[in-house]
Amino acid sequence: MRKHFLTLAAAMLSMYAAADVNYQVIPLPQSVTLDASGKTTLLMKGQAVSYPADNARMKRNAEFAEEFLGLKPQAELATKGRKKAKDITPVRLTLGLASDNPDAYQITVDKKGVLIQGASESGVFYAIQTLRKSIAQEQGDTITLPWAVIADAPRFQYRGAMLDCARHFFPAEYIKQFIDVLSLHGVNKFHWHLTDDQGWRLEVKSLPELAEKSSHRPYTIVGPNVGAKDADNAIYDGKPEGGFYSQQQVRDIVAYAAERYITIIPEIDLPGHMVAALSAYPELGCTGGPYFVRPYWGVDPDVLCAGNPKTLEFIKKVLGEVCELFPSTYIHIGGDECPRKRWEACPKCQAKMKELGLQKEAELQTYINQEVEKFLSTKGRELIGWDEIVHGGLSDNATVMYWRGGKENVEAAKLHHKVIVTNKWFCYFDYYQLANRAAQPLAFNRDLPLSKVYSHEPIPEELTPEEAKYILGVQCNLWSEYVASPDHAMYMLLPRLAAISEVQWLQPEKKDFEQFKGRLAELEKMYRQLGYKFCMSYE
Ligand code: ACM
Ligand code: ZN
Repeated sequence: MRKHFLTLAAAMLSMYAAADVNYQVIPLPQSVTLDASGKTTLLMKGQAVSYPADNARMKRNAEFAEEFLGLKPQAELATKGRKKAKDITPVRLTLGLASDNPDAYQITVDKKGVLIQGASESGVFYAIQTLRKSIAQEQGDTITLPWAVIADAPRFQYRGAMLDCARHFFPAEYIKQFIDVLSLHGVNKFHWHLTDDQGWRLEVKSLPELAEKSSHRPYTIVGPNVGAKDADNAIYDGKPEGGFYSQQQVRDIVAYAAERYITIIPEIDLPGHMVAALSAYPELGCTGGPYFVRPYWGVDPDVLCAGNPKTLEFIKKVLGEVCELFPSTYIHIGGDECPRKRWEACPKCQAKMKELGLQKEAELQTYINQEVEKFLSTKGRELIGWDEIVHGGLSDNATVMYWRGGKENVEAAKLHHKVIVTNKWFCYFDYYQLANRAAQPLAFNRDLPLSKVYSHEPIPEELTPEEAKYILGVQCNLWSEYVASPDHAMYMLLPRLAAISEVQWLQPEKKDFEQFKGRLAELEKMYRQLGYKFCMSYE
């Protein structure tokens, strides 16, 4: 009786509550077709959400529906033939949507309730996120949903975001929050930059000094970077910085991401950007050191010695453990910004060049890349590297991460390499967001306003439709030289991540920045509810 009364009261209430829900979220679904009748369905907290009983991922999806929508998970009853009305739950999670895109989903709101259909479990997850964002502003336990069919599928299969945890360490708890934020925006790849000159963040059991020694520096440069040559005259903060992720933490984070349909792609940056590792294993550098974990930024002349056989042993030990920790097919091996200066002067490197018949020092990096690629392929993995690897004589399987912002993308695709676009002019979130720099924390000395991120078209005109298929997707990169805290990282990320998510999901002809800004105002209310810091004005 009491329950009946509540339902009645809720229904009456709904007559007065305007149906504000319009399903126009970020990223904008490919199509939202409102029913011409103008009718609505009530969604009530505590209502049942059903899922196929035999599917653990769908059960987990139903738990997300509980967390995000306040629904009560219920394994689908085994019923034969036509379901009786009493067996139909108000919200149903199902598979089997006909689409060749596994991330596709459809939401149908009608008199029977809410039917969510995914082409696979990930599609169902994205549908739940879309519904979550659609109703985020609705207060109370009853939400009025207009009848509609929402059909969606992302434009790109690879939708990434990178966080640099080497320049500054971010605690494991924050990494999970970062993953939550990515999943809210439909991102499915987290590129984890784990090593650099300024810190090594991964526990490697066979090389214990990486965690013990290479993960800490005694202080950090204050203010804009001055470059290595002026480092002695720079000002330092006197505060020790550091930390690393234990293998247990990594396994936990990998599983956390996987439940949210996010693959973690670890990066071990080599053969440059390795000074933190050299500080613990100086015999792997051309000069033998001593080396120290760098407290300043920039491209460092000290790199791994390409002529020392111990270097490849070291790399294989590290990547062997990386492959055990990370199930990702893609393993990122860096490859950017590797000066040849030390190799030119190193007897071991010169002897190696003779042995291999190489003409130029650059070919030593090719040699390392090829050895690493062979090693990874024995583990069933594929290599990703920054776009400097394009001329590395790699197999077609190697994927190029385009960042320098010239024609490296066109070149790589024409060579039939898969390409991930992280063009620095559109995707580098360490740059300033507003023209008024004084209103923002210190950042890298370039500008990337929200409107510019939104305007990005990742497929270059020079490619034929056949070649364009090599562009797998788009990723934003958050480098952390000037980003030392989780709140600051959120501020750099949001709302630019919202813009990149529409680049990742939407067909270009559907993009509209003015309309996007209207939808962003709604999403920002959600950022506030969730306690996320973000840049509150935009250009
Ligand atoms: C890079 O920004 N060095 C990949
Ligand atoms: Zn050397």
